[in-house]
Amino acid sequence: MALMLKGARLIDPQVGLDEVADILIRDGVIVEIGHDLEMPKGVERDLSGKIITPGLVDIHVHFRDPGFEEKEDIISGSRAAAHGGFTAVCPMPNTKPVIDNAVGVEYVKSRAKDAKCRIILCGACTKDLAGQVLSDMGDMHASGVKAFSDDGRGIQDAGMMRRVMEYASQFDAPIMLHCQDDSLVGDGQVNEGAASTRLGMIGWPAVGEEAEIERDILLCRLTGAPIHIQHITTARGLDMVRAAKAEGLPVTCEVTPHHLFLTEDDITDQYQTSLKVNPPLRTADDAVALVEGVVDGTIDAIVTDHAPHTDWEKDRPFEQAPFGMVGLETSVGLVLTKLVDTGIIDYARMIELMAVAPREILGLEPVKLEAGSVADLTVIDPDVSWTVSRDDFYSKSGNSGFLGWSLKGRASDVYVGGYSTMEEGVVVD
Ligand code: DOR
Ligand code: ZN
Repeated sequence: MALMLKGARLIDPQVGLDEVADILIRDGVIVEIGHDLEMPKGVERDLSGKIITPGLVDIHVHFRDPGFEEKEDIISGSRAAAHGGFTAVCPMPNTKPVIDNAVGVEYVKSRAKDAKCRIILCGACTKDLAGQVLSDMGDMHASGVKAFSDDGRGIQDAGMMRRVMEYASQFDAPIMLHCQDDSLVGDGQVNEGAASTRLGMIGWPAVGEEAEIERDILLCRLTGAPIHIQHITTARGLDMVRAAKAEGLPVTCEVTPHHLFLTEDDITDQYQTSLKVNPPLRTADDAVALVEGVVDGTIDAIVTDHAPHTDWEKDRPFEQAPFGMVGLETSVGLVLTKLVDTGIIDYARMIELMAVAPREILGLEPVKLEAGSVADLTVIDPDVSWTVSRDDFYSKSGNSGFLGWSLKGRASDVYVGGYSTMEEGVVVD
């Protein structure tokens, strides 16, 4: 059956498109884009006033499945993703058990069949994320893994990191790196400096991240393996990536909305545990540098690091609460409000950061607004004003640092392979 999406503004920098037109979809594929298209038998939706983009992709989320399903599971996480406007996400393998072999990958695949978005498979670099023994990378790659990551932990041993890179370079899959030198970070809670002094908490120094970024860029130069720096947070770390890119090394990086739009200054007392994230919120100067990186292309992708935790875990003093905040259902609204509406970036750049580059980094087929492309589409309502409330979340968890924020614009509808997963703000069951 055919589906006609009428009257939206279609934006896709990949094909130089920015105009109001209709999209005709059949069997999950875009068959025609044009003006006043004839409607064959099927469903027609009037989307005038809305914007359609290639489906948004978040390549860094935590769905806690298997092992911690009380926080989130693949189905609830995928519903949160659809509600946030995403057509595909890449859940990290720091589950229990860790996804470090093909059996784990097959489990995720079996759960993903019922998900509301595409699930991109990611396997661990080392067994149990322990940094000691290589994971079953070959088997996992044969099972469909698109990337490897020990996210949640840095790989401490430089020799092991080198072996991971050398081994992984035989597969067409990047290594996604959580850069954290434990000997420098220790039990760090908040950014080391003004925040740790003011709050009387153990500091998490910028160099604890930067030392591993620099080491991993050196090892990338040595091995030639493509690396992707996850959730970058400091101005100096960004300069290292900038220099590596200028040299032509296969290095990409990502940033989260919380590191762009929140700083260490937002943490005013030890009960704001939703602001406890890893890496920590940094200085206002770092946040300014990160926005510059988004604008100048040093930062390739915006990701959420959606990290759900239960209330009882977060309702504890800062030092005892786990790191992480949910992000899937606020990311689009935040980027629209803080970056697009302010004129810092345009829609085309937002689409590069949230749809085009994420697919490129993981070597996925591009999705374009043109005939022949798979119909993974995000529909944005740019004018709606809304307030972030956990009552609206589809996620099982509510540990957002943005509760109560007033935002303008959000995703209203999502199509995955031509099927709608969200309609007018409501996830389709
Ligand atoms: O804040 C974080 N939470 N950062 C990470 O790297 C891991 C994540 C988690 O798994 O909760
Ligand atoms: Zn991480």
